[in-house]
Amino acid sequence: MPNNLSRRELLKAAAAAGLLAALDGCSDSTSAMQSVTATNARTPQPFRFVHLTDIHLQHELAGDEGFTAALKAVENLKPRPDFILTGGDLVFDALAVPSDRAKMLFELYQKILKDNTSLPVHNTVGNHDVFGWHNKSGAKPSDPGYGKAMVKDTMQWTETFHTFANKGWHFFCLDNIQPGDREGQTYHGFIDGPQMDWFRAELAKLPPNAPIIICEHIPMVTATQFDHAELFKDAEWRISNGFMCGDSAQRLALYKNYNVRLCLSGHIHQRDRVEFQGPTFINDGAVCGSWWKGPHHGVKEGFGVFDCKPDGTFDYHYHDYGWVARA
Ligand SMILES: [Fe+2]
Repeated sequence: MPNNLSRRELLKAAAAAGLLAALDGCSDSTSAMQSVTATNARTPQPFRFVHLTDIHLQHELAGDEGFTAALKAVENLKPRPDFILTGGDLVFDALAVPSDRAKMLFELYQKILKDNTSLPVHNTVGNHDVFGWHNKSGAKPSDPGYGKAMVKDTMQWTETFHTFANKGWHFFCLDNIQPGDREGQTYHGFIDGPQMDWFRAELAKLPPNAPIIICEHIPMVTATQFDHAELFKDAEWRISNGFMCGDSAQRLALYKNYNVRLCLSGHIHQRDRVEFQGPTFINDGAVCGSWWKGPHHGVKEGFGVFDCKPDGTFDYHYHDYGWVARA
């Protein structure tokens, strides 16, 4: 069909001009992006990306300088990453503070990114990026920006979850932060119904065997909880759905139908790597370590570096960017 031919030619020319890689980095879901994504169903190409989770940006304890140092370390990596993937808890804190403070932090986050990196940034939302759910904030549901509205408005997101492609690999940034449903619980982790419908539909559009990487804040599968003896009571391990998602079994069943290579998470500020039923689950250490007070359970301030390969495998290492806490 002439139209298809001309589109192919256009995309070929765009690729030759380096525009394809730039379009791959887009996070919106315009029809142009969808066309490029569909055409991007070619053999996966090698590239590097970094996973920066639990930044918890604040001025206190020089957290702003720490985040700047992390971005400078990213810029100095060789080879240079194609993009930055964040894992949520971008700021400290929007959950339990007044509106002005939360807004200031989201603006600071964007300013530091703008001043210190030219790489595309794909963001994931964390529990600390939700405004006002904790009653300490004093916010009411009727307040402007309440809940996820503030992060969406200030960061100019159309939604709190999205998908994008890069060099034949397909990425999903999921929002697993849901409001608490019992007394004293501020949030808990799972993918809600409308987002699951979107997720299933997007997965179904992918070419067979396309390598998939999923990023979310609260881990779906993690061994980190076994470091907490207090969770073993009355002959049972009790892992809260605030620390590990409650819909893990359902999503494991879904992932069996696809080539999910890697599931990334943060939230715990510790590190593990679990191979289970196909995917590799990596819980990465925090950019802020222990909320800018030093290493957390021995895990230094750092970020993940991932080298994706054409055969759908990847190499991973954790990069300690040398931050020393000012406490
Ligand atoms: Fe965190």
